[in-house]
Amino acid sequence: MLTANQSLKPVSTKINDKNHIEIGGCDLVELAEKYGTPLYVFDEQTIRTIARQYKEAFKNYPKVSMLYASKAFMTKAVVRILDEEGFGFDMVSGGEIYTAYTAKADMKKSLFNGNNKSVDELKMAVDFGVGLISADNFLELSLLNDIAESKNKKVDILLRVTPGIECHTHEYIQTGHLDSKFGFDLTQIDDAVTLITEKYKNINLVGLHAHIGSQIFETSIYYDEVDVLLREMGRLKEKYKINLTHINLGGGLGIKYTEKDCPPSIYEIAEKIILSIKENAAKYNVDEPEIHIEPGRSIIGTSGVTLYTVGSSKQVPKGKKYIAVDGGMADNPRPSLYQALYTADVANRPYDKKTETVTIAGRFCESGDILIKEAKMPLLKEGDILCFYDTGAYGYSMSSNYNRVLRPAAVLVNNSQSDIIIERESYEHLVSLDRIPEKLRK
Ligand code: LLP
Repeated sequence: MLTANQSLKPVSTKINDKNHIEIGGCDLVELAEKYGTPLYVFDEQTIRTIARQYKEAFKNYPKVSMLYASKAFMTKAVVRILDEEGFGFDMVSGGEIYTAYTAKADMKKSLFNGNNKSVDELKMAVDFGVGLISADNFLELSLLNDIAESKNKKVDILLRVTPGIECHTHEYIQTGHLDSKFGFDLTQIDDAVTLITEKYKNINLVGLHAHIGSQIFETSIYYDEVDVLLREMGRLKEKYKINLTHINLGGGLGIKYTEKDCPPSIYEIAEKIILSIKENAAKYNVDEPEIHIEPGRSIIGTSGVTLYTVGSSKQVPKGKKYIAVDGGMADNPRPSLYQALYTADVANRPYDKKTETVTIAGRFCESGDILIKEAKMPLLKEGDILCFYDTGAYGYSMSSNYNRVLRPAAVLVNNSQSDIIIERESYEHLVSLDRIPEKLRK
C-alpha cells in the first residue's frame, strides 16, 4: 500500500469546479487572495494520515514510540495535532522545548537531542520534565550529571552514537557516517558507559540513539542500523552486565519531491526494522527493545505547499526565460543550499498545457536565488498563482528575513476551513528587536 510520503501532493488535493487547485477543501486562489502570498498552506488531513500510517505500520511491534522531529517545522498548532495523534517530540533547542511545553505536549514522551546543548537548555529540559535526553558527548554527560544532582533528580538518557553507516543523500544531511560531529564514536562508548556506571550517579542510561541521514530512499540502511545498535547492546550486556531497553533509530525517511522520486513506503521501512530486531536480538542475545522513531520530513513535508504570485519575467535573448515570484531563498533555502528539486503547478489554471520551459526565480538580491531551474509551465503571466508542492519540511523552519523581507504566514486547511497558524510578519515586528544607541539617535 502506498503511504502519503510517496505522494507528490497533499492527500486532499483536487481541482474544483472553478478549475482551481484546492487543498483541504480550500481553493488556493482564494487563500492567496485572503491571506496574501507567499503563503505556506498545511493540509491537516495529510499530517494525520501519515502519522496514523506510522502507527499502523508498527502496530505488530508492541513497544514503539513515535517522536516528531520538530526541526522539520514546529509551531504550536502542529504540536497540538501530533500530540493528539499520540506523538512525542524530538527537540534540539530551548526554543523547540519551549514551543512544545507551551503548546501542552506530553513532555514525558519527548526527547532532547543535539551536539552542543547549553547548560541553560539542559536545565530547561530537566525542569520541564523532558522524558529522555540523548547525550551526545563527554562534556554533556558531566554537565547533565551536575544539573541533575543539583536538582536532586535522576535523568534518563540515551547515548547518541555514530553507527558508521553511509547513506546516499546530500552530504550536508548525512549524519550516521563515522566522521561526523554528532554522537559518540563506537570506540568511545565504553568510556562513556564506565563514567555513567561508576561516576555519574544522577544519570541513568536506558539505551542508544542514532540517526543516519535525511531524505533516505534505501530501506536496507534501517536494517543495518538496528543491527549495529543491537550488537552494541549485546556487547555492553556481556561486558558491563547492563541491560539497555531502548533504541532510537532517528528519522530520515524520504518523500517525493518530483515525479522521478520513488521513496519507500512507511510499511517497507517498518518491516525492515522489525525484521532486523527479530533476527538480531536473538543473534546478540538481547531482549527486543522499545524502539523510538523520529520522523520529521516524512510527517510534515508532503502536507505543505507554498503559494507565490508571479511578477516580472525576463527572456534573455537566445537564453533562458526567467519568471520571478514574490518569495524565494528566504522562505525556502533548500534549492540554493542543497540543489533540492521541487515541482510546481499553476493554481489558477492547472489544466493549461505546459508548453514552455522556464526558470522560476525568487525575489531576493542574488543570482543564486532560483527555486526551479527548469520548470515545464504554461505561458505564465503576472498575477498567476504558483503552488510549490512538498515545502512543508525545512522551509519555514529554515526561513530568514534576508533582505529584510517579511516571513510569510502559514495556514492550516481542513474540511473547507482555513486557520492561520503563523501570522505574517509586519514591518513593526521586523524592527521590534532593533535598538539605536543613544549617541546615534536623531
Ligand atoms: N532525528 C535526528 C537526530 C535528526 O538529526 C533529524 C534530522 C531527524 C530525526 C529528522 O530527519 P527527517 O525525518 O526529517 O529526515 N535541513 C535539511 C534536513 C536536515 C535534517 C537534520 N536532522 C533539509 O532541508 O533537507
